[in-house]
Amino acid sequence: MRGKIIVTLILAATLFVMVSCEREVTETIVVAENTECFTCHNDQDFGDEVVAAKVQWDASVHATGGNFERDGTSCSQCHTNEGFKAFLTTGETINPENPSPIGCFTCHAPHTEGDFSLRTSIPVDFVAGGTFDLGAANLCANCHQARAHSPMVEADTIILTSSRWGPHHSPQANILTGQGAYAFDVDGYDSSPTHGSIPDGCIKCHMAEAYGAQAGGHVFGMTYLYHGSDADYVAGCEAEGCHSELDDFNHDGVQDSVAMLLDTLGFYLQDASILDADHLFDLPANDTLIITADEAKAAFNFLFFLEDRSLGIHNPAYALEVLSASVEAIKPAP
Ligand code: HEC
Ligand code: HEC
Ligand code: HEC
Ligand code: HEC
Ligand code: HEC
Repeated sequence: MRGKIIVTLILAATLFVMVSCEREVTETIVVAENTECFTCHNDQDFGDEVVAAKVQWDASVHATGGNFERDGTSCSQCHTNEGFKAFLTTGETINPENPSPIGCFTCHAPHTEGDFSLRTSIPVDFVAGGTFDLGAANLCANCHQARAHSPMVEADTIILTSSRWGPHHSPQANILTGQGAYAFDVDGYDSSPTHGSIPDGCIKCHMAEAYGAQAGGHVFGMTYLYHGSDADYVAGCEAEGCHSELDDFNHDGVQDSVAMLLDTLGFYLQDASILDADHLFDLPANDTLIITADEAKAAFNFLFFLEDRSLGIHNPAYALEVLSASVEAIKPAP
């Protein structure tokens, strides 16, 4: 078997040399010294780990979400493997010719490093302002962050010209660290982000020991089916020093409270014709929507916590405080 693999690799290497005679060499891949291909590409222990990661990744939304066709210059750095790598290396956004989903080589560089260390864990400066520094989770924060506010809410009224004004679908890193929601008073919010100070943050909760190809590990998902019913995968929550035992994520009813606040806020925003039923800004025929600063802030905050999709788990105190303040700010007079 091993002989076969070696022969194949020699053949592959020969082919590469032959082909490269006729081509200009544009990229040299440096394989770290002492790296043996067989550390990873074999049927032994380490091989199992790679296969398991692959099986889990295959079932993940990173692999299956299908949104890697969002490969324009303002999207590809988060939505494609090629765009992310180019952005990390050059700081420029590209429109890749052959886009592929967020995969092994997006997060790791095994053929350069010779191991599964992360491609980046440099702290992230959010495009919407603020910074994120939580070790390995910095990788995730590159993409799972809110987009820049454009325009900012600064005057007493704001003119919106896009039905998609707001934080985008990905504000998890901002919320985890309590940054980016609009405040209605000068002091801002008193968020004490316990979950936002967990070392390696995202990874501790989302990459707990894999539950088959349904949750944890390289699936990154938090729920699974158990005898046909949806269940919460609490393995990460029950890590040492954290919660001793949890039935589900709705600890102290936090998710219920957040869901209720989102419902109320969403109702007021739709009732005032600020958002439509799809949660897009309800731009009238002339394509501009003029709303008060409080309405805009409340709408932003609503989308911020809706798109976060953890129903408050990423930062319970912050979610409850921001959403309550937003409801108060736009609640119609009785
Ligand atoms: C640190 C682990 C690691 C080492 C060492 C390693 N590889 Fe890989 N290699 C991977 C992973 C992970 C994949 C992707 C596997 C997958 O998608 O199933 C891969 C994929 C490949 C592929 C398939 C093409 C592709 O890009 O997906 C080839 C060919 C390959 N490796 C050759 C080599 C050769 C030759 C060496 C030795 C010089 C080597 N690898 C060393 C981890 C490694
Ligand atoms: C290169 C950008 C990028 C990086 C890095 C990244 N993600 Fe993602 N992530 C995405 C995109 C884009 C999607 C949606 C994919 C789609 O819909 O096609 C996604 C989807 C997800 C989902 C599934 C969301 C759903 O819709 O159910 C989870 C969970 C997730 N990522 C967690 C993480 C974690 C944890 C990390 C860090 C270990 C991470 N991601 C790193 C871009 C990234
Ligand atoms: C800063 C990184 C980033 C940029 C830039 C970005 N996205 Fe995303 N986008 C994400 C992440 C991360 C997700 C996955 C969030 C999730 O599933 O919870 C996502 C999700 C999406 C989704 C799926 C929504 C859903 O509910 O399934 C669409 C569609 C999308 N993005 C379109 C775009 C388009 C179009 C652009 C460019 C104009 C763009 N994105 C730019 C990070 C980004
Ligand atoms: C979205 C980012 C992301 C993608 C995509 C990804 N990984 Fe990982 N991988 C991680 C992170 C984060 C860790 C944990 C590293 C740490 O804790 O320092 C990890 C760890 C690993 C490890 C070490 C053992 C383990 O499971 O913890 C292996 C092996 C591995 N990945 C293989 C793969 C392979 C093979 C693929 C593609 C099929 C892949 N990874 C895709 C982020 C990713
Ligand atoms: C304290 C644990 C914890 C941390 C830390 C954490 N998450 Fe989550 N996250 C959750 C839970 C729990 C849910 C799911 C809530 C539910 O399904 O009811 C979730 C939901 C999500 C979702 C929505 C899709 C899904 O899988 O349900 C995304 C995307 C996500 N998290 C990404 C991230 C990213 C990126 C980070 C780091 C910036 C992060 N999370 C940090 C626990 C955590």
